[in-house]
Amino acid sequence: MKKQVLFGLAAGLALMAGVSAASAQSAADGEKVFRACKACHSLEAGKKGVGPSLHGLIGRQSGTVEGFAYSPAMKNANLTWNDENLAKYLADPKGFIAGNKMAFAGIKKEDDLKNLIAYLNEAAK
Ligand code: HEC
Repeated sequence: MKKQVLFGLAAGLALMAGVSAASAQSAADGEKVFRACKACHSLEAGKKGVGPSLHGLIGRQSGTVEGFAYSPAMKNANLTWNDENLAKYLADPKGFIAGNKMAFAGIKKEDDLKNLIAYLNEAAK
């Protein structure tokens, strides 16, 4: 009886460790994917480049960084950035928001996209 409980606990812990290691791994891989974004985006609040700062991106309303001159398309997109719509936008920026001015072709590899979004969830909270 006691043994079973211990076994259950150990299995649970191993599973949890596995899961968090997997997401830490994908965020680490995502940081590499983010290199493609760094030319235009900072993760620092208020620091704009060719693109707006991505600080606080997850949960932020699209097109609302003060002082950044968004395209009308982005200003009117009316999205709250989350995993789902980021995946769609970053896979195909022009296809998802027609007329937006982010000059980026999109991330075609599904793993890269998943890892990038895991990274953004940690780094762009
Ligand atoms: C060549 C420069 C450039 C690159 C590279 C680039 N972006 Fe952008 N990004 C922009 C610009 C410019 C905008 C504003 C678009 C608009 O106003 O239409 C933008 C907008 C965005 C937005 C919307 C922000 C908001 O405030 O609503 C997100 C999210 C975003 N980019 C993420 C990324 C990610 C992630 C990458 C890398 C995979 C990336 N971008 C690569 C220039 C770039």
